[in-house]
Amino acid sequence: MKLRYGMVGGGEGAFIGAVHRTAAAIAGNWELTAGAFSASPDKARRSAAAIGVARGYDSWEEMLAREAALPADTRIQAVAIVTPNFLHAPVAIAAMEAGFDVICDKPVAESLEAARAIADAARRTGRRIAITHTYTGYPLVKQARDLVAGAGAVRRVMVKYTQDWLSRAADLEGNKQAAWRTDPKRSGEGGATGDIGTHAFNLVEFITGRRVKSLCAELGALPGRTLDDDASALLRLEGGAKGMLACSQVCVGDANDLQISVYCDELGLHWRQEQPNTLRVGRRDRPEELWHAGSNRAYLAADIRAIQRTPGGHPEGYLEAFANIYQAFGAELLTGKAADGAPGYATMDDAIACMKFIHAAKQSSDAGAVWVDLDTL
Ligand SMILES: NC(=O)c1ccc[n+]([C@@H]2O[C@H](COP(=O)([O-])OP(=O)(O)OC[C@H]3O[C@@H](n4cnc5c(N)ncnc54)[C@H](O)[C@@H]3O)[C@@H](O)[C@H]2O)c1
Repeated sequence: MKLRYGMVGGGEGAFIGAVHRTAAAIAGNWELTAGAFSASPDKARRSAAAIGVARGYDSWEEMLAREAALPADTRIQAVAIVTPNFLHAPVAIAAMEAGFDVICDKPVAESLEAARAIADAARRTGRRIAITHTYTGYPLVKQARDLVAGAGAVRRVMVKYTQDWLSRAADLEGNKQAAWRTDPKRSGEGGATGDIGTHAFNLVEFITGRRVKSLCAELGALPGRTLDDDASALLRLEGGAKGMLACSQVCVGDANDLQISVYCDELGLHWRQEQPNTLRVGRRDRPEELWHAGSNRAYLAADIRAIQRTPGGHPEGYLEAFANIYQAFGAELLTGKAADGAPGYATMDDAIACMKFIHAAKQSSDAGAVWVDLDTL
């Protein structure tokens, strides 16, 4: 059985909507049956025809109202939100109130307050929501989490996510994705912190299994930009581990250079998104280990082998990692049962932690890089 879902955003010229559709198709337990693919009705209709969705609507409000009025075995069951950030909260809240579960891209909202309103709506309506923090869908990221869980105390974490696509002011010209990401009204409080810093932050919390308790940060931006395009932060985690996080969209020559190192009592491990099928592990007085991905690699945990589609040496990547998030959330919605342990997708608690990161980084930087306690936000 497949879950019927409707998409908001992701029409002509959009980036991540097509990734969601491909991921849902790979996952195999979803079926796209409706969509309001653009703010412009003409574009929305053209996009629905191009994608091949019969129930294309002129607006997301129309989609929610008309779908909710359809018979239960026909109407959509969930809504995937792939619009600029400022629309996530209104659409997610209205979707849950109309009886639909939600898949929402990150950052979950434009502000911490709006994120809390989404969490309230989920509690009030009893609907479920998954946030697509792509990188936690990679098999070796899950293996890293398992290894860290058995390696004693976490001592140090270092994560960086660097890109170069905003490295000149001119990069904004005619670039739709850049235009809204550098506009506080549409992006929200964070620039690079919201766009990619949240991925780095979420990866730290996911692999270590520990929340970040406090941080101090320094943000920067090219002249003329309101929102940050570059940030560095020191982190303190639950249990005493220390961390460093850098995220930047002005690092010339870098595409999606997300790298994380985690050092524990018993081992240190290193994962890089641009080579996601290798995990490097070091232990005291032992030769270095290289762990490789693959559905037939017997040394990987059984639940990690199970989320891979090809044997070792036939590499999977970004789309399959994204598909693992859809698959896990879909399985939970279809069976009504949450998986044992980590749910396989980022939850509202994870998303709120990311929103606290964005807010605290700005607060800290504005005050001259003072420490901010995330529990006070
Ligand atoms: N998980 C990831 O790795 C990842 C990667 C990229 C983007 N994202 C997130 O995905 C979201 C979209 O980013 P993008 O790069 O695809 O942006 P985009 O500008 O390419 O696409 C946004 C889409 O939303 C549509 N839209 C705007 N207003 C709308 C409305 N009122 N009704 C219906 N559709 C509307 C636009 O027409 C467009 O199709 C953002 O929140 C971004 O942070 C996540």
